[in-house]
Amino acid sequence: MNYLNLDKDKTEKTVQELNVLLSDYHVYYQKLRNFHWNVVGKNFFDLHIKFEEMYDDAKLKVDEIAERILTLRYQPTSNLSEYLKKSNLKESKSEHTDVEMVNTLLEDHGTLIQQMRKVVERADKAGDEGTIDLIGAYIRELEKTSWMLDAWRMNTSDNHQSV
Ligand SMILES: [Fe+2]
Repeated sequence: MNYLNLDKDKTEKTVQELNVLLSDYHVYYQKLRNFHWNVVGKNFFDLHIKFEEMYDDAKLKVDEIAERILTLRYQPTSNLSEYLKKSNLKESKSEHTDVEMVNTLLEDHGTLIQQMRKVVERADKAGDEGTIDLIGAYIRELEKTSWMLDAWRMNTSDNHQSV
């Protein structure tokens, strides 16, 4: 731990939250594969491709989160049964309309962002800039993806709020 110059107790709290985020990401990843396979209807081609793009991105993040935990010199949660126990997210059935799938993902994004903010809060208390930098970027990316999914749900006649 010393080579990182981080407080052990405070870092342990960050790692606990990172392991929850890692669990969330596994459930989210599999949900995207589920939706990629099982989406049907007129939007099939768009969403089939979009969900693949999203699960490829989630796969990279799963690895980065686990390796951040290892960098902090702790063990990442590594079993599916533990992911299901620790995750804030619930698995989805496969029979959903395209709009229900997008709604589910947007809800999950809200949960993921909440968990990411928890990690950043803990990392901030530990002075752990590396974790803040990694997870802060995830927050920004997920917020942007959420806007795009939200725009997909809107009608062409809808407008964004003006100030
Ligand atoms: Fe595929």
